[in-house]
Amino acid sequence: MMIDFNTLDDRHAHDLLTSAIIPRPIAWVTTVNLKGEHNLAPFSFFTGITWRPPAIAVSIVNRGDGSEKDSLRNIRETREFVVNSVSVEHGKRMTGTAEALPPGTDEAYRGGIETIPSSRTRPRRVKDARIAFECGVRDIVTVGEGPSAGNLVIGSVLVMHVDREILIDGREISWLGLDSLGRLSGNRFCAVRSVIEI
Ligand SMILES: Cc1cc2nc3c(=O)[nH]c(=O)nc-3n(C[C@H](O)[C@H](O)[C@H](O)COP(=O)(O)O)c2cc1C
Repeated sequence: MMIDFNTLDDRHAHDLLTSAIIPRPIAWVTTVNLKGEHNLAPFSFFTGITWRPPAIAVSIVNRGDGSEKDSLRNIRETREFVVNSVSVEHGKRMTGTAEALPPGTDEAYRGGIETIPSSRTRPRRVKDARIAFECGVRDIVTVGEGPSAGNLVIGSVLVMHVDREILIDGREISWLGLDSLGRLSGNRFCAVRSVIEI
């Protein structure tokens, strides 16, 4: 069956794309604005780009009313963000931070999620995230306009924080140790519980 995206309404296109591109790791993004108000929100349109220069990307889509999400606004202001990893144990707390709250409300504080200062950037980082990437903004590419337009935030990775216990020989992350939570679609997630060696 062939599906022509020109014939689909927004929700239908969303449902097809987000259930086809799976599983997705989740970037739990901490940001801060110039007033010093902190923000935490999850984004699963998240990937790596290259390692030289080390760069990662997160897509923050506009809200249904066409406005930009707080994370994106903060990133535009300070040109910095931190991507914190999400392990299975963080699932419930992570989804709690996806609530649309008034700007200036710190989802981490509200959700009892402890954050600590970062080393090179102003946004704080999630204390018990097993990995955190401190990033400077390299570029923001906007795709479309108005509601659901994508804003691909491309970050240069300045430093990476890793829980010592999941680092193998200083150069590889243990997939079992990271216990990454994968986004399927809607409110369904998956875990890495087996490896297929090919
Ligand atoms: C698991 C999960 C993944 C999400 N992925 C994305 C995403 O890739 N892009 C996006 O714009 N919103 C995504 N969202 C929704 C945002 O987290 C949500 O709009 C949040 O309120 C944005 O917060 P902010 O306004 O504080 O930036 C996701 C939500 C959840 C629970």
